[in-house]
Amino acid sequence: MITVKNYKNISNDLKYKVASILFTEWKNNFVKNNINCLEQVIEKLDNIFICFVFLDQDNFIGTLSINIDTENVTFNTNYWLCNFYIEKEYRNNKKGTKILAFIENYLYKKNILILHLYCEDNVVDFYKKSKWNLSDKDKTTGMNIMIKMLEKHNNILGEFKSLQ
Ligand SMILES: CC(C)(COP(=O)(O)OP(=O)(O)OC[C@H]1O[C@@H](n2cnc3c(N)ncnc32)[C@H](O)[C@@H]1OP(=O)(O)O)[C@@H](O)C(=O)NCCC(=O)NCCS
Repeated sequence: MITVKNYKNISNDLKYKVASILFTEWKNNFVKNNINCLEQVIEKLDNIFICFVFLDQDNFIGTLSINIDTENVTFNTNYWLCNFYIEKEYRNNKKGTKILAFIENYLYKKNILILHLYCEDNVVDFYKKSKWNLSDKDKTTGMNIMIKMLEKHNNILGEFKSLQ
């Protein structure tokens, strides 16, 4: 069973841990967006549209956020998946795939039907396995832009306990 918590409602210790993992993994991206220290990462995650933290009992499995981009009008959706991270010891065990299915169910229920993400070349095939498609390349950063028409995944309903 995977426990789901809203970032806003977790302990300060866990907030710091998650912020520090993400800041280490994507420091350049944060700095580009004028986020230069852990306190600013925490503020960002506290205020983003959605930030979920996934736990196995009290152990951190991973995290994922949904950002609403109000400036980018190129795409007919404003919802972007970001900060998707699975802790190393939980990788290659289908946790990432199940968490993607969980967020799809969650957004689908809210009538959000299209999601985009930016990713490096090394994870394109991972997303393709969950039926994401390549949509474009960002000309300035060279990052891949992927798109998913969201669907309902009944097969994972019993695997998540939501304590949002
Ligand atoms: C990418 C990531 C989320 C995958 O999580 P995971 O829990 O290990 O993924 P899963 O176990 O659900 O993998 C599902 C399938 O994708 C494959 N896969 C996993 N990572 C892959 C990758 N980087 N490239 C290609 N395939 C990958 C798995 O082998 C598995 O294949 P199978 O169905 O044929 O057995 C995780 O490796 C991670 O957090 N990486 C660091 C942060 C990151 O890059 N996040 C993405 C930001 S855009």
